[in-house]
Amino acid sequence: MRLSRAARIILVGAPGVGKGTQAERLLQRFPQLSAISSGDLLRDNVKNQTPLGIKAESAIKSGALVPDAMILRLILHELKTRGWLSAPAGTSPLTLSSTSASASMQDYDTDSFVEQPSLASYPTPPQTSDDPSASFILDGFPRTAGQATQLDNLIPINLVVSLRTPFEVILERIAGRWIHAPSGRIYNTTFNAPKVPGKDDITGEPLTKRSDDDEETWKHRLKKFEETSEPLLEHYSRKGVLWEVSGNSSDEISPKLYAEFERRFAASN
Ligand SMILES: *[C@@H]1O[C@H](CO)[C@@H](O)[C@H](O)[C@H]1NC(C)=O
Ligand SMILES: *[C@@H]1O[C@H](CO)[C@@H](O)[C@H](O)[C@H]1NC(C)=O
Repeated sequence: MRLSRAARIILVGAPGVGKGTQAERLLQRFPQLSAISSGDLLRDNVKNQTPLGIKAESAIKSGALVPDAMILRLILHELKTRGWLSAPAGTSPLTLSSTSASASMQDYDTDSFVEQPSLASYPTPPQTSDDPSASFILDGFPRTAGQATQLDNLIPINLVVSLRTPFEVILERIAGRWIHAPSGRIYNTTFNAPKVPGKDDITGEPLTKRSDDDEETWKHRLKKFEETSEPLLEHYSRKGVLWEVSGNSSDEISPKLYAEFERRFAASN
Protein backbone atom coordinates (compact mmCIF):
# COMPACT_ATOMS: atom_id res chain seq x y z
CA MET A 1 0.00 0.00 0.00
CA ARG A 2 1.27 3.49 -0.95
CA LEU A 3 1.74 6.25 1.57
CA SER A 4 0.64 9.82 0.94
CA ARG A 5 3.00 11.47 3.39
CA ALA A 6 6.14 10.64 5.29
CA ALA A 7 5.74 8.41 8.32
CA ARG A 8 8.39 8.76 10.99
CA ILE A 9 7.44 6.25 13.57
CA ILE A 10 8.60 4.56 16.73
CA LEU A 11 7.23 1.37 18.23
CA VAL A 12 7.34 1.06 21.99
CA GLY A 13 6.62 -2.25 23.63
CA ALA A 14 7.69 -4.43 26.51
CA PRO A 15 10.05 -7.33 25.88
CA GLY A 16 7.98 -10.26 24.70
CA VAL A 17 5.26 -8.12 23.17
CA GLY A 18 6.35 -8.81 19.59
CA LYS A 19 7.66 -5.40 18.61
CA GLY A 20 10.01 -6.92 16.04
CA THR A 21 7.16 -8.89 14.52
CA GLN A 22 5.00 -5.78 14.12
CA ALA A 23 7.89 -3.82 12.63
CA GLU A 24 8.57 -6.58 10.08
CA ARG A 25 4.93 -6.77 9.13
CA LEU A 26 4.68 -3.00 8.64
CA LEU A 27 7.80 -3.02 6.47
CA GLN A 28 6.30 -5.75 4.30
CA ARG A 29 2.93 -4.12 3.97
CA PHE A 30 4.23 -0.61 3.30
CA PRO A 31 7.25 -0.91 1.00
CA GLN A 32 8.00 2.81 1.28
CA LEU A 33 8.87 2.30 4.94
CA SER A 34 12.49 1.68 5.87
CA ALA A 35 13.93 0.41 9.10
CA ILE A 36 16.50 2.60 10.75
CA SER A 37 18.11 0.93 13.71
CA SER A 38 20.50 2.87 15.90
CA GLY A 39 22.19 -0.40 16.89
CA ASP A 40 22.84 -1.33 13.27
CA LEU A 41 24.10 2.16 12.45
CA LEU A 42 26.48 1.97 15.37
CA ARG A 43 27.81 -1.43 14.35
CA ASP A 44 28.23 -0.35 10.71
CA ASN A 45 30.04 2.83 11.65
CA VAL A 46 32.37 0.99 14.00
CA LYS A 47 33.04 -1.62 11.33
CA ASN A 48 33.73 1.00 8.66
CA GLN A 49 35.78 3.10 11.08
CA THR A 50 34.02 6.35 10.27
CA PRO A 51 35.00 9.30 12.51
CA LEU A 52 31.90 8.69 14.64
CA GLY A 53 32.47 4.95 14.63
CA ILE A 54 35.99 5.40 15.97
CA LYS A 55 34.73 7.67 18.76
CA ALA A 56 31.91 5.30 19.62
CA GLU A 57 34.25 2.33 19.68
CA SER A 58 36.57 4.00 22.14
CA ALA A 59 33.59 4.84 24.36
CA ILE A 60 32.45 1.23 24.23
CA LYS A 61 35.96 -0.10 24.89
CA SER A 62 36.34 2.09 27.97
CA GLY A 63 33.10 0.63 29.26
CA ALA A 64 31.13 3.83 28.81
CA LEU A 65 27.76 4.20 27.15
CA VAL A 66 27.78 5.70 23.70
CA PRO A 67 26.62 9.28 24.29
CA ASP A 68 23.14 10.18 23.07
CA ALA A 69 24.55 12.98 20.93
CA MET A 70 26.63 10.44 19.04
CA ILE A 71 23.62 8.25 18.36
CA LEU A 72 21.70 11.29 17.16
CA ARG A 73 24.47 12.16 14.74
CA LEU A 74 24.54 8.63 13.41
CA ILE A 75 20.82 8.83 12.71
CA LEU A 76 21.07 12.28 11.13
CA HIS A 77 23.98 11.18 9.03
CA GLU A 78 21.98 8.21 7.79
CA LEU A 79 18.99 10.40 6.89
CA LYS A 80 21.26 12.80 5.11
CA THR A 81 22.94 10.00 3.16
CA ARG A 82 19.52 8.82 2.06
CA GLY A 83 18.68 12.35 0.90
CA TRP A 84 15.95 12.77 3.47
CA LEU A 85 17.17 15.99 5.02
CA SER A 86 16.68 19.35 3.44
CA ALA A 87 18.34 22.59 4.36
CA PRO A 88 16.53 24.52 7.09
CA ALA A 89 13.91 27.01 6.03
CA GLY A 90 15.47 30.34 5.16
CA THR A 91 18.76 28.97 3.90
CA SER A 92 19.29 28.43 0.25
CA PRO A 93 20.54 24.99 -0.72
CA LEU A 94 22.18 26.61 -3.74
CA THR A 95 24.68 28.64 -1.78
CA LEU A 96 26.63 25.63 -0.70
CA SER A 97 29.76 27.62 -0.12
CA SER A 98 28.12 30.03 2.30
CA THR A 99 28.54 29.25 5.98
CA SER A 100 24.86 28.90 6.77
CA ALA A 101 24.08 26.40 4.07
CA SER A 102 27.17 24.31 4.57
CA ALA A 103 26.56 24.25 8.30
CA SER A 104 22.97 23.23 7.77
CA MET A 105 23.89 20.32 5.55
CA GLN A 106 26.73 19.23 7.81
CA ASP A 107 28.23 15.84 7.51
CA TYR A 108 27.10 14.56 10.85
CA ASP A 109 30.02 12.24 11.32
CA THR A 110 32.81 14.61 10.49
CA ASP A 111 35.41 15.12 13.14
CA SER A 112 34.53 18.69 13.93
CA PHE A 113 30.92 17.76 14.42
CA VAL A 114 31.71 14.87 16.71
CA GLU A 115 33.19 17.34 19.15
CA GLN A 116 30.16 19.61 19.31
CA PRO A 117 28.56 19.36 22.72
CA SER A 118 24.94 19.47 21.70
CA LEU A 119 22.98 19.03 18.55
CA ALA A 120 19.77 20.10 20.23
CA SER A 121 21.09 23.62 20.61
CA TYR A 122 22.04 23.71 16.96
CA PRO A 123 20.57 27.02 15.76
CA THR A 124 19.08 25.86 12.48
CA PRO A 125 18.29 22.18 12.48
CA PRO A 126 17.84 20.59 9.07
CA GLN A 127 14.36 19.57 8.00
CA THR A 128 13.25 16.04 7.39
CA SER A 129 11.67 15.45 4.02
CA ASP A 130 7.91 14.98 3.90
CA ASP A 131 8.12 12.84 0.81
CA PRO A 132 6.39 9.48 1.46
CA SER A 133 9.55 7.64 0.43
CA ALA A 134 11.31 9.24 3.41
CA SER A 135 9.29 7.07 5.77
CA PHE A 136 10.90 5.00 8.47
CA ILE A 137 10.57 3.08 11.68
CA LEU A 138 13.23 4.23 14.07
CA ASP A 139 14.42 1.43 16.29
CA GLY A 140 16.61 1.52 19.38
CA PHE A 141 16.40 5.24 20.04
CA PRO A 142 14.99 7.06 21.95
CA ARG A 143 14.51 4.86 24.99
CA THR A 144 14.07 7.62 27.53
CA ALA A 145 12.13 10.87 27.70
CA GLY A 146 15.42 12.75 27.82
CA GLN A 147 16.54 11.19 24.56
CA ALA A 148 13.15 11.91 23.02
CA THR A 149 13.53 15.58 23.90
CA GLN A 150 16.89 15.66 22.16
CA LEU A 151 15.38 14.05 19.08
CA ASP A 152 12.34 16.32 18.88
CA ASN A 153 13.85 19.34 17.18
CA LEU A 154 15.95 17.33 14.81
CA ILE A 155 13.64 14.58 13.63
CA PRO A 156 9.95 15.21 14.28
CA ILE A 157 8.50 11.78 14.95
CA ASN A 158 4.88 11.80 13.84
CA LEU A 159 3.60 8.54 15.31
CA VAL A 160 4.57 6.63 18.41
CA VAL A 161 2.81 3.30 18.78
CA SER A 162 2.56 1.85 22.24
CA LEU A 163 2.09 -1.92 21.90
CA ARG A 164 0.34 -3.32 24.92
CA THR A 165 -0.06 -6.89 26.06
CA PRO A 166 -0.89 -7.58 29.71
CA PHE A 167 2.24 -8.59 31.57
CA GLU A 168 0.53 -11.74 32.84
CA VAL A 169 -0.07 -12.81 29.24
CA ILE A 170 3.60 -12.27 28.38
CA LEU A 171 4.69 -14.17 31.47
CA GLU A 172 2.29 -17.01 30.70
CA ARG A 173 3.72 -17.28 27.20
CA ILE A 174 7.27 -17.39 28.56
CA ALA A 175 6.28 -19.94 31.19
CA GLY A 176 4.92 -22.16 28.43
CA ARG A 177 8.09 -21.99 26.35
CA TRP A 178 10.31 -25.08 26.36
CA ILE A 179 13.29 -25.91 24.23
CA HIS A 180 15.19 -28.93 23.09
CA ALA A 181 18.64 -27.48 23.71
CA PRO A 182 20.71 -29.68 21.35
CA SER A 183 18.57 -28.86 18.30
CA GLY A 184 17.13 -25.49 19.29
CA ARG A 185 13.55 -26.72 18.66
CA ILE A 186 11.08 -24.54 20.54
CA TYR A 187 7.79 -25.71 21.98
CA ASN A 188 5.09 -23.83 23.76
CA THR A 189 2.40 -25.47 25.75
CA THR A 190 -0.41 -23.37 24.26
CA PHE A 191 0.21 -23.50 20.52
CA ASN A 192 2.81 -26.07 19.80
CA ALA A 193 2.92 -28.54 22.66
CA PRO A 194 5.31 -31.49 22.44
CA LYS A 195 3.55 -34.80 21.71
CA VAL A 196 4.79 -36.20 25.00
CA PRO A 197 4.90 -33.53 27.73
CA GLY A 198 8.46 -32.53 28.55
CA LYS A 199 10.00 -34.57 25.70
CA ASP A 200 11.39 -33.57 22.31
CA ASP A 201 9.18 -34.91 19.47
CA ILE A 202 12.10 -36.18 17.39
CA THR A 203 14.67 -37.46 19.84
CA GLY A 204 12.49 -38.01 22.91
CA GLU A 205 15.12 -36.18 24.95
CA PRO A 206 14.01 -33.97 27.85
CA LEU A 207 13.04 -30.35 27.21
CA THR A 208 14.48 -27.53 29.26
CA LYS A 209 13.82 -23.84 29.88
CA ARG A 210 16.07 -21.25 28.29
CA SER A 211 18.22 -19.81 31.02
CA ASP A 212 16.84 -16.32 30.36
CA ASP A 213 13.24 -17.53 30.42
CA ASP A 214 13.24 -17.62 34.19
CA GLU A 215 10.11 -15.93 35.55
CA GLU A 216 11.93 -13.67 38.00
CA THR A 217 14.26 -12.47 35.24
CA TRP A 218 11.27 -11.62 33.09
CA LYS A 219 9.39 -9.88 35.87
CA HIS A 220 12.46 -7.74 36.41
CA ARG A 221 12.80 -6.93 32.72
CA LEU A 222 9.15 -5.99 32.46
CA LYS A 223 9.30 -3.79 35.53
CA LYS A 224 12.39 -2.00 34.20
CA PHE A 225 10.66 -1.48 30.89
CA GLU A 226 7.65 0.01 32.62
CA GLU A 227 9.81 2.42 34.58
CA THR A 228 11.67 3.84 31.59
CA SER A 229 8.87 3.70 29.05
CA GLU A 230 6.30 5.52 31.14
CA PRO A 231 8.00 8.93 30.95
CA LEU A 232 8.82 8.29 27.30
CA LEU A 233 5.20 7.59 26.45
CA GLU A 234 4.06 10.58 28.50
CA HIS A 235 6.44 12.75 26.54
CA TYR A 236 4.94 11.68 23.23
CA SER A 237 1.44 11.86 24.60
CA ARG A 238 2.00 15.53 25.40
CA LYS A 239 3.28 16.01 21.85
CA GLY A 240 0.04 14.51 20.56
CA VAL A 241 1.65 11.70 18.56
CA LEU A 242 1.04 8.75 20.86
CA TRP A 243 -1.34 5.96 19.86
CA GLU A 244 -1.96 2.85 21.93
CA VAL A 245 -2.93 -0.56 20.70
CA SER A 246 -3.50 -3.61 22.82
CA GLY A 247 -3.90 -7.30 22.21
CA ASN A 248 -2.90 -10.64 23.66
CA SER A 249 -1.02 -11.72 20.55
CA SER A 250 0.73 -10.26 17.52
CA ASP A 251 -2.08 -11.45 15.27
CA GLU A 252 -4.59 -9.58 17.36
CA ILE A 253 -2.54 -6.38 17.27
CA SER A 254 -1.49 -6.27 13.59
CA PRO A 255 -4.87 -5.55 11.95
CA LYS A 256 -5.55 -2.70 14.35
CA LEU A 257 -2.11 -1.29 13.69
CA TYR A 258 -2.51 -1.51 9.89
CA ALA A 259 -5.87 0.26 10.03
CA GLU A 260 -4.55 3.14 12.10
CA PHE A 261 -1.41 3.42 10.02
CA GLU A 262 -3.42 3.58 6.82
CA ARG A 263 -5.79 6.10 8.28
CA ARG A 264 -2.88 8.37 9.11
CA PHE A 265 -0.44 7.88 6.27
CA ALA A 266 -1.88 6.04 3.29
CA ALA A 267 -3.19 7.69 0.18
CA SER A 268 -6.91 8.31 0.37
CA ASN A 269 -8.13 8.03 -3.19
C1 LIG B 1 4.29 -20.91 20.09
O1 LIG B 1 5.17 -21.43 19.12
C2 LIG B 1 4.77 -21.20 17.80
C3 LIG B 1 5.72 -21.92 16.90
O2 LIG B 1 7.07 -21.67 17.23
C4 LIG B 1 4.77 -19.70 17.56
O3 LIG B 1 4.36 -19.41 16.26
C5 LIG B 1 3.84 -19.03 18.55
O4 LIG B 1 3.91 -17.64 18.40
C6 LIG B 1 4.22 -19.41 19.95
N1 LIG B 1 3.23 -18.88 20.83
C7 LIG B 1 3.51 -18.28 21.94
C8 LIG B 1 2.35 -17.83 22.73
O5 LIG B 1 4.68 -18.10 22.29
C1 LIG C 1 -6.34 -11.35 27.04
O1 LIG C 1 -5.81 -11.93 28.21
C2 LIG C 1 -6.44 -11.50 29.41
C3 LIG C 1 -5.68 -12.06 30.58
O2 LIG C 1 -5.45 -13.42 30.42
C4 LIG C 1 -7.89 -11.92 29.37
O3 LIG C 1 -8.55 -11.46 30.53
C5 LIG C 1 -8.56 -11.34 28.14
O4 LIG C 1 -9.88 -11.80 28.03
C6 LIG C 1 -7.81 -11.70 26.88
N1 LIG C 1 -8.38 -10.99 25.76
C7 LIG C 1 -8.71 -11.60 24.65
C8 LIG C 1 -9.31 -10.73 23.59
O5 LIG C 1 -8.54 -12.79 24.44
